[in-house]
Amino acid sequence: MILPTLISLASFVQYISLSSAVGSLGINVASADLDGNCRTTEEWEEALTKASAFSSTIKTYAVSDCNMLENIAPALNSNGNMKVWLGIWEVDDTHYQEEKDALSTYLPSISKDYISGVSVGSEALYRGDLTPAALAAKISDIKSLLADITDKDGNSYSETMVGTVDSWNIWVNSTNSDVITAADYIMVNAFPFWQYQTASNQSHSLVDDVMQAIQTIQTVKGTDDFYIAIGETGSPTGGTALTEGQAPLTVANAEALFQEGICTLLGYGIDVNLFELQDEPTKPLATADDGTSSDVERHWGVYDSDYNLKYSLTCDY
Ligand SMILES: *[C@@H]1O[C@H](CO)[C@@H](O)[C@H](O)[C@H]1NC(C)=O
Ligand SMILES: *[C@@H]1O[C@H](CO)[C@@H](O)[C@H](O)[C@H]1NC(C)=O
Repeated sequence: MILPTLISLASFVQYISLSSAVGSLGINVASADLDGNCRTTEEWEEALTKASAFSSTIKTYAVSDCNMLENIAPALNSNGNMKVWLGIWEVDDTHYQEEKDALSTYLPSISKDYISGVSVGSEALYRGDLTPAALAAKISDIKSLLADITDKDGNSYSETMVGTVDSWNIWVNSTNSDVITAADYIMVNAFPFWQYQTASNQSHSLVDDVMQAIQTIQTVKGTDDFYIAIGETGSPTGGTALTEGQAPLTVANAEALFQEGICTLLGYGIDVNLFELQDEPTKPLATADDGTSSDVERHWGVYDSDYNLKYSLTCDY
């Protein structure tokens, strides 16, 4: 991808018409179902089918929690078309070892073609779980582990990409360069909602933040031939606002962010993993940077609790 210097949204939109390859949509899927129970193989099958309405890839967070990889493996085999970004939870040591054990145990039962890549950590740097050097070491550790695992057809996972996912502001901070250097790919999370953006500025803010992150990542990596995608973005359609004046928590506003902001990124050739497949009515409250808690994360699905799609996920251009 060739990235011009930081540009306004207006000139950005002009550039899209010149770009040939449009980005693909993926979707984040929680390992818990609507009741907060672990997704069964049958529920993973249903999630893959629902995601396939607009995407060929899902993204997940941890392979041992909720027996995720064990339960999804038969669903991936029976579906045959869907791919998955696997997440590895990176702390504490016991948990990390359980994640590695799950990879070793269940990756041999599926095809390597079903795995888009393996992300070590999801906002681990943002939370301060690990230092950049420690996260870089874990990325290398997972790469070595995968090199010793073969899939159901006897093919090695050695070519499977290993990277990480973090918030856009982490990637523009040069103290995190070790991680970019170690990774095979980087995903960038950006939510105008958590930045208290207004309806009129949310798409501009999203594109601007992502472009800053991409520019820094490419500079550190020393190449633009490096896979960068959006790990999580989207807007809630219900719950309590953080502050007055921010974009409304409505379906219409989530659709506007999709058409204006997310479709701009897709048009630029960037793959975008939406957050998230389905509303999570029993999810614990989330905490904003200023300490306020919010129930919004229960209302972030592109599908509602009954698997009704809330708005069209086809870009108008
Ligand atoms: C960059 O990250 C370091 C280490 O986490 C932190 O101390 C610093 O405040 C960050 N800089 C910015 C501009 O956020
Ligand atoms: C709009 O978004 C841009 C880019 O993130 C930001 O610099 C600016 O402060 C935002 N404007 C308002 C009024 O929040």
